[in-house]
Amino acid sequence: MKRLVSGIKPTGELTLGNYIGAIKQFVKLQNELPDTEFFIFIADLHAITTPQDKQLLKKRVRDIAAYYIACGLDPNRVNLFVQSEVMEHAMLGYIMESTAYINEMERMIQFKEKRTSQTEGVRTSLLTYPALMAADILLYDASIVPVGEDQTQHLELTRTLAQRFNHLYGDTFVIPEGHVTKVGAKIKDLQEPTKKMSKSEGLSQKSYILLEDNLNQIKNKIKSAVTDSDTKIYFDEVNKPGISNLLTIYSAITDTPMSDIVDKYKDETSYAGFKSDLAEIVAEHIGQIQENYKTLMASNTLDDILDTGAQKASMYAQRKILKILSKMGLKRKK
Ligand code: TYM
Repeated sequence: MKRLVSGIKPTGELTLGNYIGAIKQFVKLQNELPDTEFFIFIADLHAITTPQDKQLLKKRVRDIAAYYIACGLDPNRVNLFVQSEVMEHAMLGYIMESTAYINEMERMIQFKEKRTSQTEGVRTSLLTYPALMAADILLYDASIVPVGEDQTQHLELTRTLAQRFNHLYGDTFVIPEGHVTKVGAKIKDLQEPTKKMSKSEGLSQKSYILLEDNLNQIKNKIKSAVTDSDTKIYFDEVNKPGISNLLTIYSAITDTPMSDIVDKYKDETSYAGFKSDLAEIVAEHIGQIQENYKTLMASNTLDDILDTGAQKASMYAQRKILKILSKMGLKRKK
């Protein structure tokens, strides 16, 4: 059986970017790949590469777990768990640090960007983060890893480390493939549409949509998204980044081909009607997710789901780590 792995870091509330680039893909693939086992987790160990408030971290871990299910992941179909509850992630993370070279880590774009935004000391784990991410993937012999565009460099490094390890110690790891959606792999900031939508990097709250925003806020953020002064609606990322980002969101949320949307609005003489339609579409879509989230939170089933997920993931991870240690000469017996 093939396996799929992916995760999200609980460093901020989930954005529309996380939803379209990652979670919506997990849900789609869950239905498209019946013969693949899914391991979807909350990457809490990755969160502590930068300072976190304890209570907030705890809340966000639960929230992401609940939103995964509210967005359509089926806990009976997917192993859903919290990364730190499966100890082998940290152990294989160290082994991957002992496979990777420092200059490979220093080359990572996210490290270069994030180190400059740190006000306190830069933690060592911010540098070694991609080794842990490689471990998350290789621990489960994943062949497919759905991620947004900003994670592709980390995934490429994962492949390099897996190949290096296999070369050093013999065939051990499956070489994973990234799965990046064609529409929505990089949802842009609504105010600065050349930048990625991100809660931590947005200039103001109008830059991003959160899954937990109230529906009026969502509509207003879309209606006040920055667009160019032309009035024609068509896709051109270079010259019309704002309207292209909104078209991308429309296409991704409604699963409609871009050309159909452009065709629908081709006679419009302003952006207002299109923005207003999109505002309703996104608010309705997120509104449904919020309803599911509330029902789930009221049901007290979340802990059972996460306990079961961690147990199943641990079973796989424990078996795998023993094989890895043995390959490296780190197992005393046999
Ligand atoms: P993170 O937590 O930053 O983001 C989670 C997922 O959301 C995607 N994403 C976006 N996609 C489209 N448009 C955006 N604006 C946008 N913003 C975020 C990200 O690409 C990602 O897929 N290192 C990872 C978490 C991780 C992981 C893993 C992922 C840890 N271990 C193993 C896959 C496999 C991260 O920080 O993602």
